[in-house]
Amino acid sequence: MAIQDLANAYPQHIAELQRHSTLALERGGCDHLVVPSGTLHYQVFDDRDYPYAVNPQFKAWAPLTRAPGSWLVFTPGQKPRLIYLQPFDYWHVVPEAPAGYWVDQFDIVIIRKPDEALQHLPGNPARCAILGEPQSALGDFVPDNPAAVVNYLEYHRAFKTPYEILMMREATRVGVRAHRAAEVAFRAGKSEFDIHMAYCSAARQDANELPYHNIVALNEHGAVLHYTELDTVAPAEIRSFLIDAGGSFGGYASDITRTYAFDRDSEFQSLIAAVDAAQLAMCAEVRAGFDYRQLHLGAHLKLAGVLKDFGIIDLSPEAALETGVSNAFFPHGIGHGIGLQVHDVAGFAASDAGGVIPRPEGQPFLRTTRTLEAGMVMTIEPGIYFIDMLLDEVRKGAHARSVNWDRVAQFRPYGGVRIEDDVVCTDADPINLTRDEFAATA
Ligand code: GLY
Ligand code: MN
Ligand code: MN
Repeated sequence: MAIQDLANAYPQHIAELQRHSTLALERGGCDHLVVPSGTLHYQVFDDRDYPYAVNPQFKAWAPLTRAPGSWLVFTPGQKPRLIYLQPFDYWHVVPEAPAGYWVDQFDIVIIRKPDEALQHLPGNPARCAILGEPQSALGDFVPDNPAAVVNYLEYHRAFKTPYEILMMREATRVGVRAHRAAEVAFRAGKSEFDIHMAYCSAARQDANELPYHNIVALNEHGAVLHYTELDTVAPAEIRSFLIDAGGSFGGYASDITRTYAFDRDSEFQSLIAAVDAAQLAMCAEVRAGFDYRQLHLGAHLKLAGVLKDFGIIDLSPEAALETGVSNAFFPHGIGHGIGLQVHDVAGFAASDAGGVIPRPEGQPFLRTTRTLEAGMVMTIEPGIYFIDMLLDEVRKGAHARSVNWDRVAQFRPYGGVRIEDDVVCTDADPINLTRDEFAATA
């Protein structure tokens, strides 16, 4: 993508943000939106700082992910103001002066010390909606996060502007490039640690910059949903590889999972192919008007169908869902909104004024219950796992005989399968950012 595409799309993004912020302020009865970028946090009894994480409400405005101590001020009808901290500091690299396609949209003030921001913030803090964490307080500017303002902004953040879709395509490009390098390292017999390093190297991003901790799981480790241990020695026998890892771009994330069998003729490879086909059918359901809760329940039915086809369970898909047996093999939600945050906000929001859409009964891990609408970007990430802890519960329960335990024992050494793509809901067919990029670079 040319930087010119971003430059062309950005003014509309900022206009949209101003429109939403104006309405959000009206809801909250406030005159100004004030958003600190955040500050560095230090480890207890130490002078070592934690990796800096920018306030998402701040990076929504500009692709600034390393600018602690800065502030965004928006007053309806006025150009947004960026108060940008460029400290006098010879110990660290000072953030570069603002530059690029986005700067023209702001009235930019450079400050050299954090306190100087006070001179450029609105006169009356009581008239401000201040969105941020408590540590960002400066003088009387103490984050208060008014619910009416936050609810409004977060609800609408689900709908991505064309600029944001371009940013997410770039984040996907980073992730897919690195996924390819990881597969090569896996096929070369590398350890989890070395695969992780190959991933970071290809992404040109380290663990702090990536959008979440890489999950790099060989063999049985694939059964730990958030396995982040990274063994430094490769196992004696390499059977399978589950990698859940993304990329970052200007504050936006991608979230991608692939699963591989070392032996491409193995039955595990066939299981991967079956989950892949089911996943594609689920991606096709990312359509305006489709209830995401229904998509999740439908995923259970499709995955239970795969389990039945492979002789792992002996139940109809409907019965597998009803009895909870499918929960033991697929114990997480079908996905979540993604954008500025990997697990994007407002997944349960009933409206932009608040309220919660509950999860379906018996489905405690679903992260989104909203009905899909054009502009939303959702992950679709079904999985089938062989998790001792959960399967032991089934074995002890009333439905033990509906599971073929010999088949479970055969698949258990492979851990599990998960396939995850990031999919844009449109008014027509969905756009699969992840598959598009894999196809474009095949
Ligand atoms: N990578 C975390 C998730 O898939 O939700
Ligand atoms: Mn993931
Ligand atoms: Mn995900």
